[in-house]
Amino acid sequence: MISLHAAILLFLCLVYVENHCIRGERQHKASCLNFPYFMRQQTPLSYSTQPANFTFNNALTSELLYNASRIATDACEQQFQHQQWNCSLSTFNKLTKRASRETSFLFAIYSAGLAHSIAAACSRGLIENCKCHSTNNKIYRMTEREVIYEDASCASNSIAFGITESRKMLHNDKENDLKWRINEHNKEAGRKMLNSNVLNRQVSCQCHGASGACAIKKCAQQIPFFKAIGQQIMLKYNNAIQVQSDNNVFSSKLIPYHLENLQEITENDLVYNQPSPNFCELDKHSGSLGTRGRICSANSTGSDSCGKLCCNRGYSEKTTFITVSCRCRFAYCCDVKCESCQKKVVTQFCN
Ligand SMILES: *[C@@H]1O[C@H](CO)[C@@H](O)[C@H](O)[C@H]1NC(C)=O
Ligand SMILES: *[C@@H]1O[C@H](CO)[C@@H](O)[C@H](O)[C@H]1NC(C)=O
Ligand SMILES: *[C@@H]1O[C@H](CO)[C@@H](O)[C@H](O)[C@H]1NC(C)=O
Ligand SMILES: *[C@@H]1O[C@H](CO)[C@@H](O)[C@H](O)[C@H]1NC(C)=O
Repeated sequence: MISLHAAILLFLCLVYVENHCIRGERQHKASCLNFPYFMRQQTPLSYSTQPANFTFNNALTSELLYNASRIATDACEQQFQHQQWNCSLSTFNKLTKRASRETSFLFAIYSAGLAHSIAAACSRGLIENCKCHSTNNKIYRMTEREVIYEDASCASNSIAFGITESRKMLHNDKENDLKWRINEHNKEAGRKMLNSNVLNRQVSCQCHGASGACAIKKCAQQIPFFKAIGQQIMLKYNNAIQVQSDNNVFSSKLIPYHLENLQEITENDLVYNQPSPNFCELDKHSGSLGTRGRICSANSTGSDSCGKLCCNRGYSEKTTFITVSCRCRFAYCCDVKCESCQKKVVTQFCN
């Protein structure tokens, strides 16, 4: 049964993201429009029937979804910019139908993105039920160096709130097959990454005291940058574990696909079941765009090398000239005068 709440949320979200995308940020159009797809998966409208724990507010909810989509897309494109699959948005629908490694990354990063957007909004006092900014929540701790930590529990409260709410909003309770279990596992792994102790908790400080002497430093803990979370999810992607179902009707646990692999699957691991599509060649069926026309690096030995990225098809070079500042001189007083020069830039493209 789909609650009216969920149906309205999906409808408004689609309307919101559609308008929002068309109005401006074109590059996020595809991810925006696909975001509800991550929640629905195979069955249309399989949103969680459990309402979110913050006061239901359509504008706020859709903005949170939009923000989540934006940061998740940026992180994905950044992490995959030099890989054969470059996180191209136009194939999300095809890719999310598989339970491959890339899909595990997508589910994890979108789920983490939503948790992060909610946590950030919570810590900035934008969500009513989130009590982060109440004055009696402040904890002061004085040290010899007079450092005051403000709202010490705000960041961790916001993160906990973001994780709980993302879990509720993205939970799919309409399916129970292997792929569903894998997707739910990866969503949880992504969210949990916000709490990972390998992330440096950002602390931002402001100085107080006579004439900027910084006699008293007031610091507040911040939510980790999403970029750092993206990097951690990328590490998990590189070590993702292939799994299968143990075919036990009572437990339905995920176990390693290769039974000789005695590795324990933890809730922080990303898991997948199907092999990745071949991303070298264009294949509309599997969602691969191929790597023809991608920029590669002739001198690199990494994943962006022309050999790897172009799948040994070879590459072509294009020479362009760009205008740069050059022969700059210091002119008395106080100016810097430059000439403009033409700089030769050679770019390699995959055949
Ligand atoms: C929802 O919020 C209420 C109070 O605002 C709290 O008591 C309750 O534990 C929360 N529920 C969940 C599942 O987070
Ligand atoms: C969405 O992101 C923008 C830009 O970072 C921010 O200004 C805005 O407050 C965010 N919205 C919510 C609801 O958190
Ligand atoms: C990814 O690669 C495709 C196909 O080569 C290209 O069309 C697209 O612009 C690339 N996307 C990004 C974000 O770099
Ligand atoms: C590759 O390396 C060679 C020799 O080190 C250098 O001359 C050339 O400019 C480099 N090419 C690129 C694209 O960086």
